[in-house]
Amino acid sequence: MCGIVGVVGNSKAIEIVTTGLSRLEYRGYDSAGVAALDEAGDLHTCKEVGKLAALLEKIPAFTKRVGATSTAIGHTRWATHGEPSVTNAHPHVGTMGPFTLAVVHNGIIENHTALRTKLSASGAKFVSATDTETLPFALAHALQQGAASPLAAVQQLLPTLHGNFALVAMAQGVPDELWGTRRGAPLCVGLGQGAANYLVSDPLALAGICERFMFLEDNDVVHVTPHTIEIFAAGERVVRPVQTLDLSADASGKQGFKHFMLKEIHEQPAVVARILSAHTHATTRLPALEFSPTIAASLASATAINIVACGTAYYAGMVGKYYLEQLARIPVNVDVASEFRYRNPPLVAGGVFIAISQSGETADTLAALEHAKAHGQTILVFTNSPHSSMARAADCTIPLLANREIAVASTKAFTAMVLNLLLFALQLGLQRNLLTAAAVQEVIQQLRELPTQLQEQLEHTVPIQSLANNLATMPGRSLLYLGRGLLAPMASEGAIKIKEISYLHAESYPSGEMKHGPIALVEPGLPVINLAASNDGLLEKTLSNLQEVAARRGEVILIADSAATSQLPANLQAIVITVPTVHPLLLPFSFSIPLQLLAYFTATAKGTDVDQPRNLAKSVTVE
Ligand code: F6R
Repeated sequence: MCGIVGVVGNSKAIEIVTTGLSRLEYRGYDSAGVAALDEAGDLHTCKEVGKLAALLEKIPAFTKRVGATSTAIGHTRWATHGEPSVTNAHPHVGTMGPFTLAVVHNGIIENHTALRTKLSASGAKFVSATDTETLPFALAHALQQGAASPLAAVQQLLPTLHGNFALVAMAQGVPDELWGTRRGAPLCVGLGQGAANYLVSDPLALAGICERFMFLEDNDVVHVTPHTIEIFAAGERVVRPVQTLDLSADASGKQGFKHFMLKEIHEQPAVVARILSAHTHATTRLPALEFSPTIAASLASATAINIVACGTAYYAGMVGKYYLEQLARIPVNVDVASEFRYRNPPLVAGGVFIAISQSGETADTLAALEHAKAHGQTILVFTNSPHSSMARAADCTIPLLANREIAVASTKAFTAMVLNLLLFALQLGLQRNLLTAAAVQEVIQQLRELPTQLQEQLEHTVPIQSLANNLATMPGRSLLYLGRGLLAPMASEGAIKIKEISYLHAESYPSGEMKHGPIALVEPGLPVINLAASNDGLLEKTLSNLQEVAARRGEVILIADSAATSQLPANLQAIVITVPTVHPLLLPFSFSIPLQLLAYFTATAKGTDVDQPRNLAKSVTVE
């Protein structure tokens, strides 16, 4: 979602801010802007709508106008309040009496209307439609009313704000000082070498500049100068631990691939190998996820598990439900986080709650997690971001180990979620004496062969490309995805992927649901993508569903292993994409590749912006 970069004490402040913003582009945004103080301490802003390239065109003239500066803040905005426009882009500036401040902000100030009314009555002249603009006016107003410093003004303002947010402020006439605060949205301090420090919403913005970071806690207020970092919680000075991060892999670029998404699809064999090496035992060949004695005890006694997630992570959760129920015989409820958080579901004391999130920052999932925590659940988080808000709130974090995912459409993180959930379910099944060590070792052995199998799939993509070319130019704009068992959530994952990046409308259903409604959609030429395996005990049923589509002259597309495709009735015309035959528990992996590539090639054939599809953001930090 939005991105924040702030710099003090570096003579290349504007350049660092714009480079940082370009590293955060992947998060999704629709306008961008920079503010800087000139040598006299005067505040200047430069903003543009659309891609960062549009802002960058204006930056040479802006830099000339500002002259030497070492204090700058910048922002990429994903519109929530007010359309994408130059006026609504951040930084926002507010003047009250002699005080002028500029603010960049992620998240939402939910009580902005009340603040706006109050500040307007005190003379604030608003120009934008944003919630953010209330912030610089509120800070300037607090100073006008006698707050001793901008730090005191931020401390006064914080308890009056509702919602989840992170903000960074600078003040006219006060060079080399920044102030920030956060609640529910990330903000961290980058510790510069020498006389410079930074405030960013994501350390990636500072790849190559900083290695050491302090992650702020909810309701921390920070004051940063080139030589000092002061953090306050409830008015008291606090110290947050310094974490050293290696961002080189995260910032390694597309490495010759046309898009980050394609690169990340191709990284999956390596991701699988990395997870197996870290989360299985080299000699016993058993899962080796590490749990503290308390967590292990909670897992041993758990009678039910709640899994909560959004989007693709939710579909991974559906696969996880299947694994946990089949392998560990634990009843699992999977919820979309935005529903769970407001439904107030009954939660048994001592229950286990699992949040799954690539970013670890998704607002709905985080809120659901906080709800579960408040109701005495043991919180496990499967996340790709070990320093995220969810990881910090969890009792135990299972790192996904997918390395940074840049493309908005999730691919390798999904695979990493599913693999870690499978290892988790195998470990629980073993601990509960439901599985023998030999049975688990057999699955792990099959998993070890997966990187080679996935690699082979990635090297044979011609049939998928030709299907994608057909889909991209088909007269209709709708698709159906069907699957059963483990392939039902995979059908949903295939549908969300193609929707996100190719903008084709795609519905997914468990195949058995077809005749309860969706079959009414089938008309001549409607592409129906069926997922089928020869060894999950469900093939016969799936083949009947194919016949039902064919009878209505829908376009039958079958993604299946060769043993399944060989059972197709001779008179049934179908476009076939073959996947390797794998252990039935491994179906999500072998089906992921064609589903991801189909979405990717359809999008490239349509010429859409694959890595940053319209309206979407990588990390959804607002409701
Ligand atoms: C789909 C996609 C989204 C995310 C969802 C949850 O490709 O990327 O549906 O899966 O927004 O995000 P995380 O996993 O960060 O909580």
